Amino acid sequence: MCGIFGYCNYLVEKSRGEIIDTLVEGLERLEYRGYDSTGIAIDGDELDSTLIIKQIGKVGALKKEIAKVNPNRDVTFVSHCGIAHTRWATHGEPKQVNCHPQRSDSNNEFVVVHNGIITNFRELKTLLLNKGYKFESETDTECIAKLFKHLYDINYQNGHELDFHELTKLVLLEIEGSYGLLCRSSHYPNEVIATRKGSPLLIGVKSEKKLKVDFVDVEFPDESNLGKPETPLIAANGKAIHSDDNNITVTTNKKNPSAFLNGDGNSSSSHDDNLLPIAANEFNLRYSQSRAFLSEDGSPTPVEFFLSSDASSVIKHTKKVLFLEDDDIAHIYDGELHIHRSRREVGASMTRSIQTLEMELAQIMKGPYKHFMQKEIYEQPESTFNTMRGRIDFENNSINLGGLKAWLPAIRRARRIIMIACGTSYHSCLATRAIFEELSEIPVSVELASDFLDRKSPVFRDDICVFVSQSGETADTMLALNYTLERGALTVGIVNTVGSSISRATHCGVHINAGPEIGVASTKAYTSQYIALVMFALSLSDDRVSKLERREAIIQGLKLIPSQVKQVLKLEPKIKELCENKLADQKSLLILGRGYQFASALEGALKIKEISYMHSEGVLAGELKHGVLALVDENLPIIAFGTRDSLFPKVLSSIEQVTARKGHPIVICNENDEVWMEKAVDSNLETLEVPQTVDCLQGLLNIVPLQLMSYWLAVNRGIDVDFPRNLAKSVTVE
Ligand code: UD1
Ligand code: F6R
Repeated sequence: MCGIFGYCNYLVEKSRGEIIDTLVEGLERLEYRGYDSTGIAIDGDELDSTLIIKQIGKVGALKKEIAKVNPNRDVTFVSHCGIAHTRWATHGEPKQVNCHPQRSDSNNEFVVVHNGIITNFRELKTLLLNKGYKFESETDTECIAKLFKHLYDINYQNGHELDFHELTKLVLLEIEGSYGLLCRSSHYPNEVIATRKGSPLLIGVKSEKKLKVDFVDVEFPDESNLGKPETPLIAANGKAIHSDDNNITVTTNKKNPSAFLNGDGNSSSSHDDNLLPIAANEFNLRYSQSRAFLSEDGSPTPVEFFLSSDASSVIKHTKKVLFLEDDDIAHIYDGELHIHRSRREVGASMTRSIQTLEMELAQIMKGPYKHFMQKEIYEQPESTFNTMRGRIDFENNSINLGGLKAWLPAIRRARRIIMIACGTSYHSCLATRAIFEELSEIPVSVELASDFLDRKSPVFRDDICVFVSQSGETADTMLALNYTLERGALTVGIVNTVGSSISRATHCGVHINAGPEIGVASTKAYTSQYIALVMFALSLSDDRVSKLERREAIIQGLKLIPSQVKQVLKLEPKIKELCENKLADQKSLLILGRGYQFASALEGALKIKEISYMHSEGVLAGELKHGVLALVDENLPIIAFGTRDSLFPKVLSSIEQVTARKGHPIVICNENDEVWMEKAVDSNLETLEVPQTVDCLQGLLNIVPLQLMSYWLAVNRGIDVDFPRNLAKSVTVE
């Protein structure tokens, strides 16, 4: 949750107005991540001063506040670092003092924007209060800003002028929890720090000159300093500040499927044998230079840096980006980007590559659509195709998932498969569980990440754990992933966001290639996850003659999905009309499904709840008579999935139970299905007709009418579809 944006220009002259506009526009692209308050911090008029402008509400409100403050837009800066934030409240309600940037003191000596949660903030706050600091907000972030100042001051008083990244290392030793954060300070003009742990952060680089190399070296502490005495610092929780207690790193056998084939499992948790401690006070400042930013003749190179929690906000400026890893401390100054780490880990990469994003600006613009959600629903013919592109050979009925190929032999030997996810991603697991079991003949369980963790469910080395996530950053899913890595299971990711934490931490996986999903309600990611999981199941069974016919039918079914989705989208006028009339002013809606369509019922109900705020419940049709039937009367709106598969007779009987109680369900059925055409007349049913496909793929088509329905129910109720209340796109808090 929350979006972070930063902009640094070096030898590229910018007016304050341009800098403000860049920051505000960056926030606009991140607004879907959190939209209850926003703020920016830039250079003030006094030398080395910081001006903070913040406001509750969306970016529009911030723009008004900036106009009200009316800073001189014409002042120019050859070098400048500004930071900005859009918030989704976790600690403290949305009010102005709780907006980020948070500051260390009334002079704004250190200002911080932060995404994540500092779990030991209460202890830190108590400690800082005892030191005389006055807190003005209810946020956990404020203690980070104050900690920066406190540590700066005591070192300064002791005669140590720490480099900004050294100071940051000391701060990070104190804080526990998750963070993606940017810090700027009047003590370090034109410098910025970016660091992350469990929360995404990337840096876009824009330079007229070609970068010398396409990577940045990681800088470790100078080991010759290891013997030096450490600076005395505060001890929170009664814990020594340099305690190594928490230094457990999880390493994966990412590139080594044979470790699993040989039965070695994962050497997951490695304690400090692999880690070298740092000295808190390495004072060999700025001894190194980042090779990437050296010009041929050694002269300074004009450069701009864009820091963000999401690639979609930097794409307008540059496609060259570097994804920070957990515990990286990026330090930008004098047109250079340095990546520091507190300790050297055996086997860890010594560089961070500067990658070229494949994303196009058009992908993150609304185009002719009113909302991102609508655009993303309409993108599904393309996004479903892109998930399959280059991976399915429809001529030879074969599947080739590049990211899984080498791992398939190990996966086939699994005792069980556990799929773990949250929300819509969980529903895509439910939707494909049956076909997974049928094709792989391996038992599959599907888990909600939070419940899986709450139960401390047993996990073994011969388990395969599949993590499904659009963002690749969901905290519950990530924690469950770490839990299974620690227990030596082989982990597979099914993820949309390339470079995300889950994509990187899993041993192997499949990027679903649905393109950026910005609407808070997940739509195209669902259908692409579904297809990726079906392709995964098909890959697992490609050595089985007994499954040949079934596999061919599914692969040929997949071929038609994009055009069939297009067909279903033509239902929009009818669905819109239903939303305006029959479903308008309703308080509650039941959705019935069975077999493959139970997942569609749950997913449809979730969409309706989260976007239109109308209560909706997905019910397993077979369970109707065990309680839910009591709700049914002539008034309760009901939607039922009545598409053809082996369970059709049972579904028919459930729907008859509803019509016998004077219910008038809307039935999603296959085109020209005689049974429903007849019933439409006899029992006063509405139908929404969708093309027929293979049973295990039907959910891909059946979900689309419900996505459209949730969209129009919300629009008709005047709800800002892309920003439903209390929600945010990327749930990076537990
Ligand atoms: C890759 C390239 C794609 C290129 C194709 C050509 C990337 C991201 N993809 O696609 O641009 O067109 O080769 O052959 O560069 N992974 C995980 N966890 C996940 C998801 C993926 O570990 O959750 C790993 C995979 O195991 C693989 C890598 O990430 O090693 C890329 O995965 P994916 O994009 O699915 O691979 P390809 O389809 O081969
Ligand atoms: C619902 C929705 C959420 C997400 C859930 C998991 O429309 O978007 O339920 O599916 O928060 O998010 P990811 O897939 O990013 O892990």
